Amino acid sequence: MKKNIVFALIAASLLTACASSGKSDKESKIEQKVDSVMKLMTLDEKIGQMVLYSSDWDVTGPSLKKGYIDDIRKGNCGNIFNAHTAAYTRKLQKIAVEESRLHIPLLFGYDVIHGHKTIFPISLGESTSWDLAAIEKSARVSATEAAASGINWTFAPMCDISVEPRWGRVSEGAGEDPFWGSKIAAARVHGFQGDDLSDTLTILACVKHFAAYGAPLAGRDYNTVDMSERVFLDMYLPPYKAAIDAGAMSVMSSFNELDGVPASGSKYLLTDILRTKLGFKGFVVTDYTSINEMVNHGVASTEADAGLLAVKAGVDMDMQGEVYFKYLKKQVEEGLIPGKMIDDAVRRILKVKFMLGLFDDPYRYCNEAREKREIYSPAHLEAAFDVAKKSMVLLKNDNNTLPLQKGEKIAVIGQLAASTRDLLGSWKAAGDWNFMKSTLDELKIYNGEANVIYAKGCKTSGTDRSGFSAAMLAAQRASKIVMVIGESWDLSGEATSRTSISIPGVQTELLEKLKTLNKPIVVVLMNGRPLDLSKESELADAMLETWFPGTMGGKAITHVLFGEYNPAGKLTMTFPRNLGQVPIFYYEKNTGRPLYLPNPKYKSRYIDCPNDPLFPFGFGLSYTTFAYSDIKLSTTELTEKGELKASVNVTNTGDKDGEEVVQCYVRDLVGSVTRPVKELKGFEKIALKVGESKVVTFIITPGMLAFHRLDMSYGTEPGDYKLFIGGNSREVKETEFKLK
Ligand code: GLC
Repeated sequence: MKKNIVFALIAASLLTACASSGKSDKESKIEQKVDSVMKLMTLDEKIGQMVLYSSDWDVTGPSLKKGYIDDIRKGNCGNIFNAHTAAYTRKLQKIAVEESRLHIPLLFGYDVIHGHKTIFPISLGESTSWDLAAIEKSARVSATEAAASGINWTFAPMCDISVEPRWGRVSEGAGEDPFWGSKIAAARVHGFQGDDLSDTLTILACVKHFAAYGAPLAGRDYNTVDMSERVFLDMYLPPYKAAIDAGAMSVMSSFNELDGVPASGSKYLLTDILRTKLGFKGFVVTDYTSINEMVNHGVASTEADAGLLAVKAGVDMDMQGEVYFKYLKKQVEEGLIPGKMIDDAVRRILKVKFMLGLFDDPYRYCNEAREKREIYSPAHLEAAFDVAKKSMVLLKNDNNTLPLQKGEKIAVIGQLAASTRDLLGSWKAAGDWNFMKSTLDELKIYNGEANVIYAKGCKTSGTDRSGFSAAMLAAQRASKIVMVIGESWDLSGEATSRTSISIPGVQTELLEKLKTLNKPIVVVLMNGRPLDLSKESELADAMLETWFPGTMGGKAITHVLFGEYNPAGKLTMTFPRNLGQVPIFYYEKNTGRPLYLPNPKYKSRYIDCPNDPLFPFGFGLSYTTFAYSDIKLSTTELTEKGELKASVNVTNTGDKDGEEVVQCYVRDLVGSVTRPVKELKGFEKIALKVGESKVVTFIITPGMLAFHRLDMSYGTEPGDYKLFIGGNSREVKETEFKLK
């Protein structure tokens, strides 16, 4: 069919829409356009829109399909991922738009998780910045560069809450807290989608991995997830909800089962919760071959049966599985699936393509001049530098070892110090590291080549100690030692669960040897998960968590070490003393035998380790210090329609200007079900000059105290509460109030 007939029909239906509805409602216009295309489609072409294949430009799963270009030409594949650049996406789009029968434009998806070419800190690192504007900016820059490179859909934000440091994908998330994770999810959706999806520099967000993928048993990726509905609804669902409330128009179903049902076949998750409860209006795409994997899960005996489960559960698009392509048509023809179910799925997909403006101009994202202008622009690199600095967490700084003094002779030790690839972390999208500067490069630029002595010492893995002596010699020639240790970039991300969360290899052994030189040692950490740093924190005089800080990470680390930037990051996942404490998180329950009971034995404790973590949620130091006044409440009784204001006065009591993330937690002392000992309900990041004070006020309303009660109704319960304010979840001022 000629392309112009299709567009003429769309135009005609548009006129009808305006005439009949008399309203210029963008949505009803789009629905009319969708209907006009649907009328032209064969069943094969409808199913083609429900198919997503990876190009061979990148591999992000266990299988690749050959012949996807021919599938596009035949209308058997309406969506592609892992393809980018304006040129290559234009090539593929041209085949869809000019060679297929109905000329329906392609979606181009990609894992733009923390940057496209300009790479920002890994998402867990961004979360420790506690700077929503910076996080949104990161998503905005990522979307701009991705859109300029032909991509119109990112498989982000990852909204999986997790308390499992063994699970390597915590690196992609926002940590353990539902409140903060929800804020970040919404900010990222705004950053990606902007206010108008048809803008050429905005891209479709994809809320993943729906749902509760971050709670695999034993921290083993893809493993079973089993939790109470109350824990799911109160602790794991909120960030997905926040992303959907922020307008995300696609959702990715996860690999895991929840309560015995794999997400891609779960009507409870994909219809009852996602569409009915949350009101989601976009389309659902599966994760990589997760329909097929329902055979392995044991809920379908064939892929065809798995496809039936998925389409009935509410899956609109099959990522890489070829299940919909192979079996749906016959299943419709045999009456196993109502044709309306296919139509509804295709309508949701086409609606998004119209929202993206792809029917108006299928090549709108394929502008090579704009691509050259946007990629690695100075403003983007500056933004990445800013977020990288803000993401870093000062975990220890005895005797003010940091900041370093410019000009002092430092020995820099460790493979990671000289690495550029590791700075990008996992899921680096199209980020490249060839032009980047390493931490070592940046230290030399800042401090002078002669004042920086480098020795690799050892790799991040293995037992080769042959570099130890050179490292010791280098350290002997310096006044301070900066040892960069941690995980290589590929030890976190997908399919990287570890049964140990210790620093790998012999890095810590070398640190112990360096300690014998009795020189101040600064440990710089690069890692994608909370680690067991019990030994390292004993050996180091100062310790800086830098995660994988991205394209500008080397310069950011340098500027923090030398005090050009005073670190203010705060942990968003608890760092345990050892793996034996895991799972460990701040919003634990009190239990019937809490630690504070006078009885020395019969209480909830370990006989070989304290209960408290090494570094708690919300923890992070500064080069200055802060003092908190007692909390002042506007009232000690919060009424159903009222609000309560809780204020503290925070003072910079140190000798450097700095920033502090002031955190507010509450505790419901008695409920119809047990309640966490703390729940984050607010925070404010403030900047204070030396000696300056500021009053920080949090507003608490009854709705903030709602939860799923004993009868699973959602709401509040009157009673006594505690309220805490402090610079982390453990060191807090406290007071109390009543909810009437
Ligand atoms: C992977 C990941 C998912 C990603 C998708 C496409 O298996 O689980 O996060 O978006 O496949 O690359």
